[in-house]
Amino acid sequence: MKQRKNIIKIAIDSPAAAGAGTLGKSISKHYNLLYLDTGKIYRMIAYIKINKKKKYNKKFIKKKIKNLNLKKLQNKNLLSDKIGTEASLLAKNKNIRKLVHSFQINFAYNPPKKFNGSCLDGRDITYKIIPDADFKFFITANLKTRTLRRYNELKKLNKKITYNEVLKSIKRRDKSDFNRRISPLKKTKDSILINTSNLSKRACFLKIKKIIDRKLNN
Ligand code: C5P
Repeated sequence: MKQRKNIIKIAIDSPAAAGAGTLGKSISKHYNLLYLDTGKIYRMIAYIKINKKKKYNKKFIKKKIKNLNLKKLQNKNLLSDKIGTEASLLAKNKNIRKLVHSFQINFAYNPPKKFNGSCLDGRDITYKIIPDADFKFFITANLKTRTLRRYNELKKLNKKITYNEVLKSIKRRDKSDFNRRISPLKKTKDSILINTSNLSKRACFLKIKKIIDRKLNN
């Protein structure tokens, strides 16, 4: 695999709806990094499993991943709670993870020349996908805050769902993501913990920016 030298690599892990996506995007824009929300790939596979049952097999998924681009991952259909739940079940499968890994690694280590580097967020980014990242963050927030954020997001998309349903779903997903045997969500020792519960988007951004600038300007 080709690897670009002297690029900035940022790895973020976080539980569902902790604000990692918003932060990842704003940080990437500021430092001109290629950004990937890796959960979207698992969601895309879940979407195929639910909506294109007959086509769902290893060969088809492999082809889909090979032809994947960021635009395809912006599909709003991937955002539903049902897809998120299915994605978290699929993400326990070793073979599925293998298919997704090479795409993520290529994305992280070989971004197009116009970018200064890459920023990926997910569940196993800090220790499996970019173990040598220049910056590692574990972004979290309390359950109530995360539920409210996801609930508001889904309401904006006109999804029919109650607060309690979202709460239940996030709890189930946390249990599955933290406790699974393969690539569980965890905070590595070398990751910086950012709790976004009581911070605005701007405050989170500035907190991370300060950490990055300190190291870059040294
Ligand atoms: O981040 P998002 O909520 O979109 O992720 C959906 C599911 O995909 C997660 O609950 C998790 O089980 C799985 N996932 C993963 N590894 C990643 C990203 C997401 O297992 N790097």
